[in-house]
This record gives sequence, C-alpha cells and structure tokens, in this order.
Amino acid sequence: MVSAEVKPYSNIMIDTAIRVREENPDMKKHFKVIFTSAGDPVGWKDKIKGAGFTWMHVVPSVKGALRCKKAGVDVIVASGHEGGFHTSWEPVHSMILLPAVVDAVSDDHTLVCGAGGFCDGKTLAAALVLGADGAQMGTRFLSTQESDFHQIWKEGVVAAQDRGTLVARGFVGPARWLKTPRSDEHAKNTLAKLPGVFLGTPDDYTTMDMSLIQFEIESIKAVYEGDKEKALMAAGEVAQRINDMPKVNDMVQGIIKDAEDILRSVPKKYLA
Ligand SMILES: Cc1cc2nc3c(=O)[nH]c(=O)nc-3n(C[C@H](O)[C@H](O)[C@H](O)COP(=O)(O)O)c2cc1C
Repeated sequence: MVSAEVKPYSNIMIDTAIRVREENPDMKKHFKVIFTSAGDPVGWKDKIKGAGFTWMHVVPSVKGALRCKKAGVDVIVASGHEGGFHTSWEPVHSMILLPAVVDAVSDDHTLVCGAGGFCDGKTLAAALVLGADGAQMGTRFLSTQESDFHQIWKEGVVAAQDRGTLVARGFVGPARWLKTPRSDEHAKNTLAKLPGVFLGTPDDYTTMDMSLIQFEIESIKAVYEGDKEKALMAAGEVAQRINDMPKVNDMVQGIIKDAEDILRSVPKKYLA
C-alpha cells in the first residue's frame, strides 16, 4: 500500500524487498513483480522498475488508471467494489470498471487485469471477454490448502453464503469483511463515527475517530489467536461462490481448463 497514511512504511518495505532480493540469488530468480496499491502510483517508477521489477498497480477508477499510465506502470489492476479487504471510497463494480479501464488505457505496452469477483473459469473467461489480459483472485486463493491464513478465516470464506460480506472502516479506507456479529458491530460504529465511508467522502488519520482503527487492530489480532467472536476477517463478495479449499495447483489447472472450455463453447452456441 502506498497511500499517504502509510507512505514512510511503503518506502521501507519496497527498499527492503529490493535489497533482500539483491542479496539472494535464488530470490532474484523468483521474485519478479511488485504490486503497489491504495495510493498514487506517480513517483514510484524509478525505484521499482529501476531495480528490474515488473510493476503492477491497483486502481479503483479510470482516473487512477490514467495516473498509472502517466506513472509508467506495466500492468494496471482494475479493482472492483466486490473485492476483498480495502475498497474504494467511491465504489464502482468490476462489470463497469474493467471494460472502462480497458477502453481508457489498454495498449501493447499496458496490460489490464481485472480484480474483484473473479474466482473460477467462468469469471476468468468473463474478464478476458471484457478486454482484460488476466484476472487477479484474492479471496479464492485465501481459501486453499496452501494458504497460510488462519483456519478460522479460511473456513469463514467457505461458510459464507448469499450476501455474506459487508463494508466498514479499514486501515486506509473502506474495507470489505465477512459478515459476522463482530463485523456488523464494526459497520454500525463506522456509520455512527465515520459516515464518510458510506458517503464516499474520504477522511484520514488527522481528523478521524481512531477508536475504529483500534477496534480493527484488536479484531485482526483476534484472528491470529483463533478467537472467532472477536475476529474481523476480510474477504470479497465472491466468498459466497467459494465452497471448497482445494490445492492451488489443482484449482489453477481447473480454472484454466474451465475458462478455455467456456471460451470455445460461446462461439458454437451463439455464432453457429
Ligand atoms: C485478506 C485480504 C488482504 C488483502 N490485502 C491486500 C493488500 O495488502 N494490497 C492489495 O493491493 N490488495 C489486497 N487485497 C486485495 C487482493 O489483492 C485482490 O485484489 C482482491 O482480493 C480481489 O478481489 P476478490 O477478493 O473478489 O478476489 C487483499 C484481499 C484480501 C481478501
């Protein structure tokens, strides 16, 4: 995250990543991409691309995508409001955002990736049909055998049903959480203390009631202690479509195969 609130830490993290990679030849072979998000991409190019990384930046709007173009980002991730954890102050969903970003910025040098709501072959095929070069899946990978998220979090994603998430304050803005009595309480507190989260009017640490951030910190600590009652667990709306905890390799192969089958079947069905 490179938002204003955390920028000093972003610098430390990126500098450390670059240094550690330089010191470790094995890491240099495998660690090739840096993602930035939640802030302005302009100004980070020299550091990230200068160190030889492919650079991906996450945006919630066409305006953000145009900033990426100006900043020299390699792959722009258009992140819809369905997505897990931090979402935009002014929400736009993937079905609108992704083709709008593709139309605005996609060219031979600028790839576009959809994020928010993608979890299977069907949704990957949809992203490609909307003009994207790929899809980023967060909540889907959270609930896999290899994922190192706490078991209660992984099980929470699998258990989520219809309308299984809500939005309430996160560290750097609105965030999407699994719906539980605890997140419901957090949403009610957010509405009372920081209604801007629901009105699309950003606030920051200089003006806001920090009790919400304190609540979030305690609730995330509770996740790692396995305390279900106090835990706040981030996830995307797509949690309601995720019902298993597969091994990553099987899952990825299955997603690719399903997407290919769907993309082949569409012309047969509609263009015979
Ligand atoms: C628990 C969790 C933590 C996340 N943390 C970050 C993060 O630190 N930076 C970021 O750019 N995106 C983060 N994301 C967003 C994902 O990278 C991805 O864009 C998003 O999950 C896609 O939507 P989906 O959840 O519908 O798949 C996070 C998502 C989840 C569920």
